[in-house]
Formats: sequence, C-alpha cells, structure tokens
Amino acid sequence: MISDDRRTPPVLSRIVGGLPATIPFLGPEAIERQLGHPLAVRLGANESLFGPSPRAVAALREVAFESSLYGDPEGWDLRVALAANHQIKPENLVLGCGIDELLGLVVQAYLNPGETVVMSTGGYPTFAYHVNGHGGRFATTPYRDFRNDAMALVDLARRENAKILYLANPDNPTGSVLAPGVIAEMVAALPENCLFLLDEAYAEFLEPAQIPEIAIDDPRVIRFRTFSKAHGMAGLRLGYLFGAPQTVRPLDRIRNQFGVGRLTQVAALESLRDTDHISAVVAAVAEGRAHYGRLADAAGCVALPSSTNFVAFDLGTEARANALLKSLIENYRVFIRKPAVAPIDRLVRITIGPPAARAILAEALIPAVAAL
Ligand SMILES: Cc1ncc(COP(=O)(O)O)c(C=O)c1O
Repeated sequence: MISDDRRTPPVLSRIVGGLPATIPFLGPEAIERQLGHPLAVRLGANESLFGPSPRAVAALREVAFESSLYGDPEGWDLRVALAANHQIKPENLVLGCGIDELLGLVVQAYLNPGETVVMSTGGYPTFAYHVNGHGGRFATTPYRDFRNDAMALVDLARRENAKILYLANPDNPTGSVLAPGVIAEMVAALPENCLFLLDEAYAEFLEPAQIPEIAIDDPRVIRFRTFSKAHGMAGLRLGYLFGAPQTVRPLDRIRNQFGVGRLTQVAALESLRDTDHISAVVAAVAEGRAHYGRLADAAGCVALPSSTNFVAFDLGTEARANALLKSLIENYRVFIRKPAVAPIDRLVRITIGPPAARAILAEALIPAVAAL
C-alpha cells in the first residue's frame, strides 16, 4: 500500500497551471440549474431557432443505426461537396467539431507560447480562450463605432510582429460586417509571417457580393465556416476551414481523426443539398432583424445594424446592459448574452428567433428596459 504522502498530485503544465480556474462559458443548461426552472427561450448562443433542414433530419433518422460506426476520418464525401460549392479542391478543406475546435487546432499548429495574436478588444472569446490555452500573448485594438477597425488591426499586427491576426466577419458580438474591399485591403497589407484567420461563421447571412474573394492559394489566409448557424446544426458540431494545402494539410497531423461523427457527416451532406431550407432561414432571419429594429424603438434602445442571426442592442452604458441581461434571465427566463469589455460592454446580444420566440422577447424586453 502506498502511503498518503507519496500520492502527490501531478503538476499541471506551466501554461494550464497559470490559467484561471473558472469555467469561461456558462451554458443555458447551467443557468437553468442555477435558476431551478427552465428558460422560456434561448436567445443567447446564436443557435438557429429555425432548426435544421427537414431533409437532414430525415437522413439522420435513416442512418441512426449506423451510430455504431465511426465516420469517415477524411470526411471525403462532405469535403467533395463543400469543395464543389466553394470551387476549390477537397485538399483545401479540413473538417472539425465546429469552428471552435478548428480555431484551437490552428492555434496549436501555428502559435508558439509567447508569440503574439492580434484581434479586436472583446472580440470572439472562444478564440481568445484557445490562445490563452496555448500560452499566446495578445495585442488588441478597440472596436470603432462598434465595428472591427480593419487597418488598425493590420497596423498592430505589423508593430507587434504578430504571428496570427484574427477577424470575425460578420462579427460576433457586434453583428457588423466589413466590405469585401476592406478585407482585400487587409490581405494586401498583411505583415510578413502573419497568418490571417477569417472567421466567417455567419457568411450564409450575407449577399454573395458581400463575401470577399481571396485567392485559395494564398498561404497566409485560413477561412472558417460552420453548420451551427444558418444550417441549424449546432448540436451536431461541424465546422470546416479552407486555405492553401501547404497551410491547412499539416493540421492532419494533430486533428482528432474521428472527431466528426458519421451521422453529422450524413446530415451535413443533406443540408448542403437542401438549399431551399437555407434560403428560407436566411429570409426569416432578415424578417426577424427588421422586427428587432422596431422592437428596439418600442423599448427605447438602439438596435445596431446586423449581418448575422443576432442583433446587438445598445443600452448606452455598461451598467444598464448588465442590469438588462440580469433582469431578462432572472425575471423573464429569457437567455441572452453580452460582451464584457469596453467599449462594447454597453451592448446586449440577442439571437433572432421565429415569431413565437420574438413575441416572448418583446413581452420581456419592453418592461425590462423601462424598469432600468
Ligand atoms: C464568430 C464565431 N465563430 C465561431 C462560432 C462557433 O461556431 P461552431 O459552433 O462551429 O464552433 C461562433 C458561434 O457563436 C461565432 O460567433
């Protein structure tokens, strides 16, 4: 028997040992456990409340029994279909369990501890989470007028000799979008040895002309897409990245080969074929966005222009935004989120749902803002 004093706990790596012990993302399920009752509506995670393609659901039912089998580790059929959509080759594509996993993979592959990453202050927190987890260093530049400051990001990357520049476009949490010409200028002005990560989780909500054209053989750029938003498959966990093979294929050395499940691959293929569903979701989201504009007017706050499936509402001050978030969750069981860092901490971010979900929100938002 080993005596107690020999059972010393293992020592965490320097990087992980230095991280805070808190859980960074409080999920709606955790909020329900804290509240002791279910939420009325989930408008905090930009999931699609319009659901997945019915054709994808039918395909899932058909193959449910194949849950006992691993998926194709190369995701070949899906990569062929995605490559055809983007007019690229399967070798340009890597699949993963959502953009979130792929961001971590790219950071692992390209960032040495101590190297610098540039992004907007308070930008998409999951990317920051991965950078922290790999011992990266941040240099950030504030949003300007609730938009990413494109050239300030590039200038900062140059000054800081950054290894990675991250941009979400359309942006989370502001919902704003930069024009394709601006993205082209950023690519043209990228400093040497800087990898540009362009997170396009909300690309389907843009007009085709709003999507930048970037040469697929440019080894300095990786683009990210997801099935979690317009495709309504957040729970199946699927995202993909694309770029030059020399940049993206090394990820095969470290990715979880069987991470993307068999059922997920089948459902995604069917969802890609169901273009009518995606068009209907995009149209319904646009309708909801217009409704949120009217709702903000009625409630006495400002809805920022959005190119996504959520709208950022400006409450004027951080204190009012924090109080609104708390009131919506605690008094009305409406789950929303908000950014934590100035100057965007005066915003709350609310997912666009179908009319029934929006009615629940309207009944809560108007009195909650009035009571601030
Ligand atoms: C900018 C951005 N990137 C990535 C994600 C996560 O995508 P996924 O579900 O594919 O991990 C989100 C989800 O909110 C997002 O807003």
